[in-house]
Amino acid sequence: MRLPCGCTTKYMATSFCRRVLASSYFGVLGRRGCNTAAFMPEAAGFEGVSGRAALQEFSVSNSESFWAAVARHRLSWIAPFHTVQDCDLSRGRIKWFEGGKLNVSVNCLDRHVHTCPERVALIWERDEKGSEVKYTYRELLEMTCRLGNLLRRHGVKKGDCVTIYMPTCPLAVASMLACARIGAAHNVVFAGFSADALAERIRDAQSSTVITVNQGVRGGKVTELKKTVDTAVQSCPTVQKVFVAMRTDNPVAMTARDIAMEEEMLKEDVVCEPAAMNSEDVLFLLYTSGSTGKPKGLVHTQAGYLLYAALTHRYVFGYHDGDVFGCVADIGWITGHSYSVYGPLANGGTTVLFESTPIYPDPGRYWDMVERLKISQFYGAPTAIRLLLKYGDQWVNKYDRSSLKTLGTVGEPINTEAWEWYHRVVGEGRCPVVDTWWQTETGGICIAPRPSDPEAEIVPGMAMRPFFGIKPVLMDSEGKVLPSNNTSGALCMAQPWPGMARTIHNNHQRFIETYCQPYPGYFFTGDGANRSAEGYYQITGRLDDVINVSGHRIGTAEIEDVVNQCSSVAESAVIGYSHTIKGEGVYAFVVLKKDVDIKEEDLCRELNNMVSKKIAKYACPDCIQFVKRLPKTRSGKIMRRVLRKVADCDLNSLGDLSTLDDPATVQEIIQGHSELLSKQKK
Ligand code: WT7
Repeated sequence: MRLPCGCTTKYMATSFCRRVLASSYFGVLGRRGCNTAAFMPEAAGFEGVSGRAALQEFSVSNSESFWAAVARHRLSWIAPFHTVQDCDLSRGRIKWFEGGKLNVSVNCLDRHVHTCPERVALIWERDEKGSEVKYTYRELLEMTCRLGNLLRRHGVKKGDCVTIYMPTCPLAVASMLACARIGAAHNVVFAGFSADALAERIRDAQSSTVITVNQGVRGGKVTELKKTVDTAVQSCPTVQKVFVAMRTDNPVAMTARDIAMEEEMLKEDVVCEPAAMNSEDVLFLLYTSGSTGKPKGLVHTQAGYLLYAALTHRYVFGYHDGDVFGCVADIGWITGHSYSVYGPLANGGTTVLFESTPIYPDPGRYWDMVERLKISQFYGAPTAIRLLLKYGDQWVNKYDRSSLKTLGTVGEPINTEAWEWYHRVVGEGRCPVVDTWWQTETGGICIAPRPSDPEAEIVPGMAMRPFFGIKPVLMDSEGKVLPSNNTSGALCMAQPWPGMARTIHNNHQRFIETYCQPYPGYFFTGDGANRSAEGYYQITGRLDDVINVSGHRIGTAEIEDVVNQCSSVAESAVIGYSHTIKGEGVYAFVVLKKDVDIKEEDLCRELNNMVSKKIAKYACPDCIQFVKRLPKTRSGKIMRRVLRKVADCDLNSLGDLSTLDDPATVQEIIQGHSELLSKQKK
């Protein structure tokens, strides 16, 4: 007999016994806070904590006891930790669960294989609609072990860093877990990044091994990922081995350093000894944009990250055994790491790997998939919701969405219209929508409507409540904590949590300067937020020169660096402006060198090609305006605030222009902007 979770009766005895044991155990101990213990078993041991509000409060004021109990209950340890935390935010020292030893892949695979080997771990929703492939926990463990052995045989050691440049697919997940198994760190680079961007990340991570596929397939289009790797590694002297998996049937040119991955995996054993890792050993690097031209390799470590991903996955989305979790993010971003891979697998869940796009082959793709795979929790980006809203309700209503229980969004603020549509049309008004706020730096969700109370009120378009153990504060411009409600300020975290990034690879000083120094003793997120009269948080957006294009984060300085490399360009200023679908679009103000005699159209094409080649397509300017000069203060600083207002057509509140060197510049730019708009309308 097959149970709904996918287990066979053979294994039923173990999980059934466990459940019975758990309920009788907590029935006795949890009498005081019966409700609390049923909700979170480990809370049974918290003295005097009754009810979910009390649990939330306890998790913040007794954060060490809270995280210690959760870590013991939720993770399998090879050796127990002796120190819950050793953190000093003012000095950028963050350490959790020291003394503890564990293996992340064992936590994500082996322990579920012992209880439910035939449960489905991954459902790969391939680009080709209707051709999904399922992998059980047993199969995923086998694949991971073979790959772990193969990597080891080719010299990958504990402490090495392997770069993974692959589309979202089971072999990419197995690659991440194989690294974890043998103690290597992984560095997944989004497969939409160009050869130059990939090379920069390989060099910074000092990887000697790269894993890729022959070709990628997304939205029906084929991309030459292996060729991109070939180009990239030309400028990466550290790279010795490139493992190539076959996503399509088309052969690619192989050189002496290339290894046919699947073929070689077949020769390996299905058992691979897991490395015993210290809690604070590096699990992965993930590059993200900051306010300078150079991306930062944020470092996440083993135990704290995994624990935080698992706990947030379970409590923010209300994930239960037997559910199918559908996070449609690419594994190249932190959302894919935490909620397609580590969170769901640590919880023994079934997780969907989505390889396609929201509109391929048509705008019904997501909901067709929800019906076919019986997805219980759907987690996507506001930009996709806004896009699908425009195509109309019929694409949603065609499909049965009765399996859905919770809808989530992430990556950027969600406007009320999109939120309402998601709730009313997609969720038929019966599924809570959770707007989740977090960052690459935070490892997992920090603010979301329902961490503790599954019945709590939800206000549209608000991330609302801190997760367990999270203490957000708002700061004023002088660096003082704003204590009251109904206020807005810079969003900081007043205490550390296990999921936070530990450092920037090779640049701890930059970590300290970016996150720890702006508000000493606090972790600065870079975002601004409002706190409502009721105490709910609403994120308003970045306070630095980072913009958010379709939920993809990009530093304006990175784009400027590329634009300025063009031989015709004297200088440029890139800013984000409101864009109805993308959330923010990229707007470039460009000053040309004297005597440049090229048609503007050709220059625009050249600049777009350059950005796409040096960074990625998504970073290309939506709008390029050629200007005679940029608005600068007398000290020579570009007044970006004014440029943002102009790009947003918000000319009534340009603010104080008295510090400008020559206020006439602003008029020229406004004039140029309106000419550009009327040209575009034609
Ligand atoms: C930045 C982090 C976290 C995974 C995806 C992005 C913005 C994220 C929300 C939200 C408003 C949000 C912030 C943040 N952001 N979620 N629910 N509401 N803004 O990760 O690439 O590290 O970007 O995305 O500005 O700082 P990321």
